[in-house]
Amino acid sequence: MEIKEGTKDEFFNELLQKLEQMTNWDGRKLVKYQGFWFPLNYLRPLLSAQKHFKANDSDIILSTLPKSGTTWLKALVFSIANRSIYPNIDQSPLLTSNPHKLVPFIEFDLYWNEENPDLTHIPSPRIFSTHIPLNALPNCILESSECKIIYICRNPLDQFISHYYFVLQNFVSKDAAPLELDEAFDMFCQGVPGPVLEHMLAYWNAHLENPRKVLFLKYEDLKDNIGFNVKKIAEFLGFPFSLEEEEQGLIDEISRVCSFGNLKNLEVNKNGYVMDGLLKNSSYFRKGEVGDWTNYLTPAMAERMKKLMEIKFQGSGLMFNI
Ligand code: A3P
Repeated sequence: MEIKEGTKDEFFNELLQKLEQMTNWDGRKLVKYQGFWFPLNYLRPLLSAQKHFKANDSDIILSTLPKSGTTWLKALVFSIANRSIYPNIDQSPLLTSNPHKLVPFIEFDLYWNEENPDLTHIPSPRIFSTHIPLNALPNCILESSECKIIYICRNPLDQFISHYYFVLQNFVSKDAAPLELDEAFDMFCQGVPGPVLEHMLAYWNAHLENPRKVLFLKYEDLKDNIGFNVKKIAEFLGFPFSLEEEEQGLIDEISRVCSFGNLKNLEVNKNGYVMDGLLKNSSYFRKGEVGDWTNYLTPAMAERMKKLMEIKFQGSGLMFNI
């Protein structure tokens, strides 16, 4: 949908009136746009990005659902893509800046306060991240033959639990109180916010259609073998590790610096905030485990999600072990 010039507020309000709205389990207002439930205050930056973002062929877009490994992926891709600038990993900016400061979100950082920011001064390769579903991405990202997308997702049960506790840490005192866990889970299974399974499936299909353009990663696979995945990301980006780099142990070094244990314990990530002081740096590093959902959700809840996945992912080849 196009934003008309000159009447932005009028157009925005008119559009808003036509869209379905509801309250999320975290107490925030949601609006349904292009098939997905977005936080209401996300809509304006999304529309601005759809209208103004210009993709460069060398751009790297990290696309994720919230709480799926975004912070980790930002740290890894930043380190891989900038390793010629910071050959000594112990001088990496990651040691003094939260990964979200180094890799901005398209919708939260670039377009949150500005309708059309100048992004031309950012050196190549520009690395941006987003939670925007594939069908709502600025068209130019998909149309550019060279610009790369890396998607990471996670077992939806762990993603839900991670999200729930992230909200409790960050919003509970400022916004309305979230619903109880079981009510929130019920909404989650009904596709609110999200629907997350559709978000994953669209990127999965795009990866199958064009694996050179879209790399599809799972959090669990990175936990299982980070070195293999660091190598895979570098190859996908067209910056493969040389034999010399491998022999020097650079893959292991990058994996170590970006590891949960290392990032969580850095002073910069224990203190401070991102997103205009809204979100605590420390809240991005909770447990970093696979299967933490078993501590909070019943087998019946897990079974419900498993059935949903079987239906939604049927025939696609996408699945998560529960
Ligand atoms: P948990 O809440 O399960 O611990 P996002 O970065 O998309 O917001 O996701 C946050 C989740 O990723 C949190 O999961 C967080 O602990 C975990 N995480 C953050 N950094 C990580 C890292 N370097 N390695 C592994 N997991 C990490």
